[in-house]
Amino acid sequence: MTVHISRHPLVAHKLTRIRDSSTEPKKFRELIREISALLTYEATQDLGVDPVRVTTPLEETDGSDLAEKVGLVPILRAGLGMVEGVWELMPSAEVWHIGLYRDEETFRPVEYYNKLPVTPTVAVCLVLDPMLATGGSAVATVDILKRWGVGRVKFVGLIGAPEGITNLEEHHPDVPIHLAAADERLNDRAFIVPGLGDAGDRQFGTA
Ligand code: PRP
Repeated sequence: MTVHISRHPLVAHKLTRIRDSSTEPKKFRELIREISALLTYEATQDLGVDPVRVTTPLEETDGSDLAEKVGLVPILRAGLGMVEGVWELMPSAEVWHIGLYRDEETFRPVEYYNKLPVTPTVAVCLVLDPMLATGGSAVATVDILKRWGVGRVKFVGLIGAPEGITNLEEHHPDVPIHLAAADERLNDRAFIVPGLGDAGDRQFGTA
């Protein structure tokens, strides 16, 4: 099972607030941050750990350290708002931005920013993008990361359309998809319905 739709009541509650068209950008950004952290908590359950010893004020005991270096990969622009909440949970993570915009006529992703170094510096990447619409942006980003040489990739998003989920699953069956909701469909502008509108514009006040 590669598609995980959160069943957590806090996620459902916050998702409802973020869908609301009257939610203003400041609150919208706060909700993106919070939902992203909650989804990442669920998405990182299988990260590897190394056993370590730790000394409490009372005695020495067994503990764990994260064994794998994690990379957060927000897809610009809308994925930016997801970084902070996730980074709070994993301050040792590296952040690598990928800039893609969707051509308004073809709906195909166009790459405009990629500063990945030649060799991978992380073992696991979390691709962050609130919207999985046609799935073109997510597929292109995972393509880039796999060419880079990253061993494991996960996708964390807020809302997916059936088309986008299927597209990502078909192209990258090894990539788990973590979402707060799977919505009904895409409209004729390839917007997710009922969705939450344009996640980039609503965060950055550019609608
Ligand atoms: C939106 C969204 C995703 C992409 C999803 O970005 O944030 O990145 O479209 O669509 P897809 O699954 O069909 O590829 P957009 O192109 O509007 O750019 P922005 O984030 O800069 O607003």
